[in-house]
Amino acid sequence: MEENHLKLTDIRTENESDKRLVEKVFSYKQEHVFRWWNDLSANDQKNLLNHLRTLDFELLQDLIEKHIEGSTLTNPKTTILEPPIIIPIPDSDSQKAHAAEAKEIGEKALRAGKVAVVTVAGGLGTRLGADRPKGTLPISPIKGKSIFQLHAEKIQAVMKKYDTVTPWYIMTSKNNEEMTHDFFEENRYFGLNSDNVSLFTQGELPVIDLQGRLLMDSKSSIVTSPNGHGGTLLALKERGVLSSMNSRGIKHIFYHQVDNILIKIADPVYLGYHISAGAKMSPKVVRKTDPDEKVGIVGIRDGHLDTIEYSELSDEEKHALNPDGTLKFGMGNPAIYLLDVDFVEKINESHFALPYHKAVKKVPCIDGDGCEMKPAENNATKFEMFIFDALKHADKSIIMEVVRENEFSPVKNATGKDSPDSAKQSMINMFGRWLAEAGIEVPTDRTGNVAGAIEVNPLYALDSEELKGKIDPKVVFNGELNLQ
Ligand code: UTP
Repeated sequence: MEENHLKLTDIRTENESDKRLVEKVFSYKQEHVFRWWNDLSANDQKNLLNHLRTLDFELLQDLIEKHIEGSTLTNPKTTILEPPIIIPIPDSDSQKAHAAEAKEIGEKALRAGKVAVVTVAGGLGTRLGADRPKGTLPISPIKGKSIFQLHAEKIQAVMKKYDTVTPWYIMTSKNNEEMTHDFFEENRYFGLNSDNVSLFTQGELPVIDLQGRLLMDSKSSIVTSPNGHGGTLLALKERGVLSSMNSRGIKHIFYHQVDNILIKIADPVYLGYHISAGAKMSPKVVRKTDPDEKVGIVGIRDGHLDTIEYSELSDEEKHALNPDGTLKFGMGNPAIYLLDVDFVEKINESHFALPYHKAVKKVPCIDGDGCEMKPAENNATKFEMFIFDALKHADKSIIMEVVRENEFSPVKNATGKDSPDSAKQSMINMFGRWLAEAGIEVPTDRTGNVAGAIEVNPLYALDSEELKGKIDPKVVFNGELNLQ
C-alpha cells in the first residue's frame, strides 16, 4: 500500500470506535502509520490501534505547529540577567549560627513526617549506554552496592535519626519501569518497608521525524520517548502521588536525580531555610568549575528565578566577574530542589504550566520499506519538559550554595568525566575528607585522590560530623577501610 495513495477506506476496522480513531489519524495527516496495515496480523492491527489510542494528537499537533512548521518557540530571549541572592556555604560565626537554626527547623519537619523524597529515574541513560536502569548500577567503592541501595540506605538512616517515616517515590518510564520494579522486589526494598516506597511512571510523547511525521519502530508500533524530568510534576498529579502525599501529611518534596551518587537526601539545613522563608521551590547550587563548563546556571532572568542554559549565555556573561574575582554567573545547577506539595498542585491547575522543549536526535526506527535502521544523522525530534521551568512560577525561593565535592557527582558517561569510575573516586575522596576531619591520616596521590578505597555505609554515618562521633581516632588507614 503506497502511503501517498492511502485512503480511509483502505483501513478496514471492526467497530465504530476503531473507525473514529483511524479517521482521527488521517485528519492529523499521520496516515503513513497504516502503510503496512494489510500485512499485519489481526493482533498487530489491534496493537497498533491501541498504541495510537494512547497518543495525544492535539498536543502533538500543537507541538508540530510551534516547533516544526512555525518559526520558533525556543527559550525566550534573555533581556536582563542578574545573579540571584545565594545562601552561602557557612564561613563566619553568624552564617554558622543561621545554618544551625535552619537545621533545627528542618529536623522538626523531618520528625513530624512532613517530607518525602522523589527520585527521578525515568531517563534513557543514552550517554552511559548501559542495558539496565542507571539506579541498578553497582557503584559503591568496596561492596559494589547499587545506586538505588545507596539512596535507600540514606533514607533509612534519615528515618532512624529522626524517628520518622520519609516516604520514597521513584519515577520510572515505560522503558525501565519493569526492570526497576523487579530490582526492588529482588532486593526486598533494601530493608525499607515497601509501603513507604512507590514507583510511578512518567508520561511519554511520540517521537517524530524532521517533517513532523510519527516515527515507527515496527510495522505496528510508534516510537515514543519519556516526556522529560519536567514530566515529574505532571506524573505526580496524574499517578495519584500528590493524593498519597496529602493523605500522609507530606508538605515538602525533596527532589533529586537518580544518578547523583553524592546526594545529601533530605538535608535538614536546606529544608529549614526553605521552610522558614515560606519558599515554594528552592534549588541548591554548586560553583562552576570554570567559565566554560557546560552546565546550566541559576540566575534571575527578566525578574524571575530561572535556569539559564550554557548555550544561552554570551561569552561576556560567562566570563563576567564579581568584585571578589568569582564568576558573576557561576552558580551551576545540580538539579536538586525542594518543592512544596501545594506548589506542585498549583502547577497542575487548569493548564499544566511547563512548556515543551525540542531536541533533535538520532533515533533508531524503521524506514519506508519497514527495515530497521540506526541513523547516522539526526532524523528525529523529541519533546521534553524541564523541571527548572517551574522555578519562575514559585512566588518565593531560597537558593543555597553547597560544596560540590560533597554533594554532586553524577553518572552520565561510560568513561571519563561523570562516569561510574569518577563517581566512585568522588565517594572515596569525600570519605577520605571525613576521616581526615576525624583525625585519621589518609594519604593522597599526586592528583589529590585518596590512595586506596574507603566505603562508609550511610547507616554508619551520614556525614563527617556523625563519623567523627563514632570512629576510633586510633584507626590506621592501610589502603582500604570499609565502615558498614
Ligand atoms: P539526563 O538529562 O541526564 O538524562 O537526566 P539521562 O537519561 O540520565 O541520560 P542521557 O541524557 O540519556 O544520556 C537527568 C535525570 O533526569 C531523569 C534521569 O533519569 C536522570 O535522573 N529523567 C530524565 C527522567 O526521569 N525522565 C526523563 O524523561 C528525562
